Amino acid sequence: MGAGKTTLGEEVARRLGRPFRDVDREIELTLNTSIKSFFAEHGEEAFRVRESAMTVRALRDATPSVLALGGGAITQPAVREALRERAVTVLVDVDPKTAWERVEGSDRPLAQERGAFFALYDQRAPLYREVADLVPRDADDVVLAAAGVHVERGALARLAELVPGDGPVALVSDSHVAGIHGAQAQLALRGRLAETHELPPGEEAKTLATLDRLWQELRLDRAGTIVALGGGCTIDAAGFAAAAYLRGVDWVPVATSLVAQVDAAIGGKTAIDLPQGKNLVGAFHWPVATVIDPALLETLPDAQRREGMSEVVKTGLLAGEPLWELPDNELVRRCAAYKAAICLRDPHDRGERKMLNLGHTFAHALEAAAGYEGVTHGQAVALGLLAAIRLSGRDIGQVEEILHPKPVKVDRERAWQALLRDKKGALKLVLLDGYDIEVPAEDVRRELDRLIA
Ligand SMILES: NC(=O)c1ccc[n+]([C@@H]2O[C@H](COP(=O)([O-])OP(=O)(O)OC[C@H]3O[C@@H](n4cnc5c(N)ncnc54)[C@H](O)[C@@H]3O)[C@@H](O)[C@H]2O)c1
Ligand SMILES: [Zn+2]
Repeated sequence: MGAGKTTLGEEVARRLGRPFRDVDREIELTLNTSIKSFFAEHGEEAFRVRESAMTVRALRDATPSVLALGGGAITQPAVREALRERAVTVLVDVDPKTAWERVEGSDRPLAQERGAFFALYDQRAPLYREVADLVPRDADDVVLAAAGVHVERGALARLAELVPGDGPVALVSDSHVAGIHGAQAQLALRGRLAETHELPPGEEAKTLATLDRLWQELRLDRAGTIVALGGGCTIDAAGFAAAAYLRGVDWVPVATSLVAQVDAAIGGKTAIDLPQGKNLVGAFHWPVATVIDPALLETLPDAQRREGMSEVVKTGLLAGEPLWELPDNELVRRCAAYKAAICLRDPHDRGERKMLNLGHTFAHALEAAAGYEGVTHGQAVALGLLAAIRLSGRDIGQVEEILHPKPVKVDRERAWQALLRDKKGALKLVLLDGYDIEVPAEDVRRELDRLIA
């Protein structure tokens, strides 16, 4: 009572694109009277019986939603069981003094007298802690929990707890990351670690030859979990390996690069490359959990960090906040939450998830024109953001200041043809105001040309 469940619940519901339901309100509507009058007439016991039945029904509803429960609902064992089975349960913590100030003078039956209110708080607090999966600081924390994403400094050491289930684990990492963080991951997984595998670092991991080898080496059965420790390449490759191995086994990405922590590890897209292009074979295969330990970024080379910063700036521009200014822990948490929310709203990339491609039409054209050598994805995205922002009619100052994009030497015609091939038909771009925005070809060509030295 008075904790701010409705405010937070409504924000989370909006972020996740789910309905918000206030179960107390629904009960009042069904009882056709206020909770206060029902209490007065029938007593608390009778109320709890109704409340429990209706809360369990709401929890069992097939439509995922954000539910705000009445303060006493969790005193009923049936409600606690349904929460365990069906929900990510969030405790909106508040000190009793603040809560009392908010509810004092209201008609809530259990908030009529200060002493009794404080006693009730003390009595319920342990129960709340027992059912809660987390005590969030804000809506981002809730979004991340709903997506199964753990962002936490030191998470690598707690890996065994964060990988759901108790079956065997196959640890897949790139040989470079294995040398730096592999030992700690193995130690953390001790009891469950059944096998370890190494992939080549970089894009070579995302080839059919690498996956052929991995699939043949894997010994896990259906009860097993693949844990992918590394950057976006390891995660894309191991995730796709998990999607297809035995027709799909559980997997958990453990993101070690900035690109992976703010982008590749989130959203369940997995893929490998073909000679014809990048990410052409893959699957949507949402991980059972995602582990992000910002402390791992301390060993990341500067050049790799810059790769990630382009995606951070992209995310900040979309979110309308300078997320790039935050210290690592917060920067990663906020970016990860932003992407997680979009992916939960549009898991199969049919609509607004396209927004995450801001600047990428230009970037892909530049990368293709360079033959995927000499121009990195991060550099290309930094340039692509310039073009997208200019076409959105906004100021490029921030992007220039943080990412310092420099025009690249590639063949203009080749870049233009690559862009047209990518688009096939009308030139519809992601701009700051939305996706699928039709832009005249000459404007697109002009902006592309400005990115080329
Ligand atoms: N699935 C998706 O949604 C998605 C999104 C974005 C990018 N991606 C993919 O991600 C890939 C790029 O990811 P990336 O930039 O992480 O590349 P990467 O996996 O090749 O990692 C970059 C380099 O950094 C090293 N490295 C990683 N973590 C380290 C650490 N903590 N300390 C020291 N070195 C470390 C790696 O060994 C590698 O050499 C691309 O193939 C891209 O297509 C996928
Ligand atoms: Zn990108």
